[in-house]
Amino acid sequence: MSEELFELELLGGAVERAYRAQRPEVEAMPWGTIDPSLYPEDLVRAAQKSWTGAAFQEHRTGAACAATLQSLIEARAPLDLIALASRFPLDEMVHVELCSRLAMEFGGGVSIVYEPDAMVATVGQGEEPLLKASHQVVAFFCVGEALSIPLLHGTWKACTHPLTRAVLKRIVQDEADHGTFGWAYLDWVLPHLEPDDLVALGKTADFAIDGVKANWDAIRARPAAETAHVHDLGWMQTDAYLELAQRSLERQVIRPLQARGIPIQSSSAH
Ligand SMILES: [Fe+2]
Ligand SMILES: [Fe+2]
Repeated sequence: MSEELFELELLGGAVERAYRAQRPEVEAMPWGTIDPSLYPEDLVRAAQKSWTGAAFQEHRTGAACAATLQSLIEARAPLDLIALASRFPLDEMVHVELCSRLAMEFGGGVSIVYEPDAMVATVGQGEEPLLKASHQVVAFFCVGEALSIPLLHGTWKACTHPLTRAVLKRIVQDEADHGTFGWAYLDWVLPHLEPDDLVALGKTADFAIDGVKANWDAIRARPAAETAHVHDLGWMQTDAYLELAQRSLERQVIRPLQARGIPIQSSSAH
């Protein structure tokens, strides 16, 4: 597998105009209003890193949404569920643009090298479409998206700069449907699954939860900074964020999965 630099471009012209017409709110945001010279240098560097990282995560989520969508279509999931999920890859591409442009506002993106073939976790590999889709929905939506909603919401509420606030608001609004989608799908699919399938889905959820916890380490490594600055950058203070993350994992992910008969090993006491 070869590694590539995470770089993006716009084609421009009629294609960009068609895209802009679908999501006019992107250009309406107050771009060009962040002055990096107002913040300490190490914090600006950290903001470049965190917003580039966020763009990359949104890009990965776009790939995960698209992979799940293909499985849902192959599995002939209910048409309205598929139609709802069809919007998600576009939403994620918009989020990629928003996060990348925020990194530019802070002075530029940082280099991220990645393996395109390994962008999406291979869950449910080799299973028939319905079961494969179920594994993907559990990992990407019931864990990934369901957990990101309260965290994005908390970050948006704390955010003080008009541009970072507009970006986070847009993402929060889009993500609301992404988060509830997983549970709507699970409630539909559960009668079609066997007890062994639920145990396997629990293992997939544990795997996804471990991945989420690994991301928290990067947040712990952020430099300490004044609260006003942190809130301008579009972060929460580290302790508040991690506390909300831990609580949200328990309430928004582990308990709803367990309530649906999906056994979870991960304990929130980690
Ligand atoms: Fe997103
Ligand atoms: Fe999403």
